[in-house]
Amino acid sequence: MFSNVTTPSSAATPEPDGLWFGKDLSQPEPIPQEAIERAVAMMRSGRLHRYGEQGSGYPEPSLLEQEYAAYLGSRYCVAVSSCGAAMFIALKALGVKAGDKVLTSTFTLSPVPGAIAHAGAEAILIETDADYLTDMADLERKVASSGAKVFLLSHMRGHIADLRAVKAVCDSYGITIVEDCAHTMGAKWDGKHTGTWGKVGCYSAQTYKHINSGEGGLLVTDDEDVAAQAILMSGCYMMYDQHLLKPSTAVFERWKYVTPNFSMRMSNLAAALLRPQIGMLAERGRRWNHIYATLERELTKAERVSIPARDAKEEFVASSIQFTLDLKPQQIAHFLKQCDLRGLYIKWFGTPAPVAFTSNYEHWHYLTGKPDIPNSKAVLDQLLDLRTPLSLTEEDCVLIGKIVSTASALACAVA
Ligand SMILES: Cc1ncc(COP(=O)(O)O)c(C=O)c1O
Repeated sequence: MFSNVTTPSSAATPEPDGLWFGKDLSQPEPIPQEAIERAVAMMRSGRLHRYGEQGSGYPEPSLLEQEYAAYLGSRYCVAVSSCGAAMFIALKALGVKAGDKVLTSTFTLSPVPGAIAHAGAEAILIETDADYLTDMADLERKVASSGAKVFLLSHMRGHIADLRAVKAVCDSYGITIVEDCAHTMGAKWDGKHTGTWGKVGCYSAQTYKHINSGEGGLLVTDDEDVAAQAILMSGCYMMYDQHLLKPSTAVFERWKYVTPNFSMRMSNLAAALLRPQIGMLAERGRRWNHIYATLERELTKAERVSIPARDAKEEFVASSIQFTLDLKPQQIAHFLKQCDLRGLYIKWFGTPAPVAFTSNYEHWHYLTGKPDIPNSKAVLDQLLDLRTPLSLTEEDCVLIGKIVSTASALACAVA
C-alpha cells in the first residue's frame, strides 16, 4: 500500500451494519489486445522515437494524429507527452509571455495552474458555481477587468459549461479560449466536440483518462500558426515532414528559427497503444454514462446528498461522479472515515491538505496574487468525488449508495 493512500484501509473488523465494498476504484481497463500486439511489434523493431532519420511511411503518432483529428473534425492534431504539455505548448504558441495574466477555472486539477506557471504567467481564477461550472457573472467581470488575453477553461471532471455563452463573452473581449479536455474526450456541447469550441483543445491519455497509454497528450487546433509552433515546440527536430497533418512549408518557415524545442513529443509506443482505443470511445462512453445514471440514482437516496442536473446540451462522458454533501467540514471528514471503514474510498475537494490527485487552489502557494473568488470555496468544501471504473456493476452501485447513505446519516449525528 502506498503511503498517500488512494484505496481504502482494509477493515480489521467489519462495521456492525456489515457493509463492505473493498473494490479498487482506480483499476483501469486492460489495454486492448490489438494495441498490445502493435506495441510488442514496435518494441521488436527498436524504433520507439517518432522521428526516424531514414525509412518510409508515417510513424504511429502521425497516424494517431490523423485519426484523432478525423474523429473530432479538426484540421490539425499534435501528439505530445501529456495534457499538461499540450496546455503549456498552447499557451506559448498563443504568445503568452512571462508575467502575462491567464484566466482559468478554479475547479480544476493542479496541472492546469501548473501549465500557466510553466509559461511564467499568472493565473486569474474564475469562480465555480453550485453546478461545478464556470460562473458566468465572474467570467464577464474578469474578461473585462483582468487584462488577460487567454482563458484556459477546464472541463473539470467532465462538467461542461454553456460553451456558446462562454465563447460569446470571450469573443466580445478578444479573449482566446484554450480548452482543457482531460476529462471530456468524446464529449460534446450542443452536438460539437469539446476541444473544438476554442482555438486549442488539449487532451490526456494518462492512465485515468478515456484512453490510456500511461502518459500522453493530444493538442488539436484549426490554426496553422498554432499547429506549426506546436510541432516545433513538441520537439520535431525539423522533421515536420513526417507529420501527415501539417501546415505548409511557408508556415514552418515563419516559425522554425524563432521557436524553441521543448522536447514534449509522444513516443511511437504510446501512439501504438492509443490508436486502437479511439474506436472504443463511443462504447466506453455509453458504459460510463450508464454507471453514472445508476450511481446518481443510488447516491441521491442519501441524506444531504445532491447532484446537479445536467443540461440537455451537455453530452458528457462520465468517468467519475461528483456530489455535494451539505454538511460542515468536520462532518464530511467523519463521513469519509465511515466510508473508508466500509472499504469505499471517496475524494474530497475541500480536503485541508492535498492528497492523491485531489488538491484545490488553497494548496497552490505558487499562485501569485490573492485569488478573488469568494464563492468557490463553499462549493469545493462540500464537493466529493468517486472514480467510476467500467468494471462497476449494478450491485456495486447499489452497495456504494447504501454505504454513502449510512455514512451520511452517521455524519449528520456529529455536532
Ligand atoms: C482536469 C485535468 N486537466 C489536465 C490534466 C493533465 O493531464 P496529464 O496528466 O496528461 O498532464 C489532468 C490530469 O489528471 C486533469 O485532471
